[in-house]
Amino acid sequence: MDTPSLSSSSDMAQGFACLVRQRRATRAFAPDLVPPEVIEQAFALAAQAPSGYNLQPWRFLLLTEPAQKARLRRAAFDQDKITQAPLMIVAFGQREGWKENADEIFHLACQRRGLDLAAEEKQKRGALAFVSKLSPAVWLNRQVMIAFTHLMLAFEALGWDTAPMEGFDAAAVVKAFELPADAEVVALLAVGRAREAEPPHPGRLDIDRIAFRERFGTPFQTHQLHEAHHEH
Ligand SMILES: Cc1cc2nc3c(=O)[nH]c(=O)nc-3n(C[C@H](O)[C@H](O)[C@H](O)COP(=O)(O)O)c2cc1C
Repeated sequence: MDTPSLSSSSDMAQGFACLVRQRRATRAFAPDLVPPEVIEQAFALAAQAPSGYNLQPWRFLLLTEPAQKARLRRAAFDQDKITQAPLMIVAFGQREGWKENADEIFHLACQRRGLDLAAEEKQKRGALAFVSKLSPAVWLNRQVMIAFTHLMLAFEALGWDTAPMEGFDAAAVVKAFELPADAEVVALLAVGRAREAEPPHPGRLDIDRIAFRERFGTPFQTHQLHEAHHEH
């Protein structure tokens, strides 16, 4: 692929800024159905999300049938968005199940990068050892939320509205949809068209409160960062 020119990369930045700034967590949905090709495109983009060792442990359950959405609503504190939205997505991972794809993933990557079988084995062993030291729930949440965020922004870029949701009883969701016993339910995403004007922006913390420079507590200030670069 050609390196984007300065103007096309700034178009990309502008498009992204617009997308991010216009997105709101939609409060109420109209009944308009999300076309299959939109769903397909959004998932094709979500699947491009990065993950540790490229293990891609995210899984998604798509619900469009009213009875299935009603079942999800019962496991999610009766939030009415769930039965309003034409499409509900349950994002989850499997605490053990992801290991079934590991051989295939490492084999493909090593083939593409021209690495031999010994290198492949070594990489795989290293990855499994690293991940096995972490809490499976923490590791899965870390990975699944990246694909989830890609998915949410992809739907928004395709002209649809979304609402991310953490208000659910994970055990009840696993039971209601007979997910695998090792399933870790991470988040729900409602997708559709907003029924009313999007809610006002709720505001955000200033970047100096959330990003620090060199030492925790030292506010991040872009002009100072600029000066620091020029000193070297
Ligand atoms: C992980 C996550 C879980 C959320 N869970 C819920 C939820 O269960 N119910 C709900 O009404 N909103 C939920 N929200 C929406 C947030 O309240 C909303 O994103 C936040 O207030 C910021 O507003 P904005 O998305 O419009 O910028 C959730 C958002 C995120 C990112």
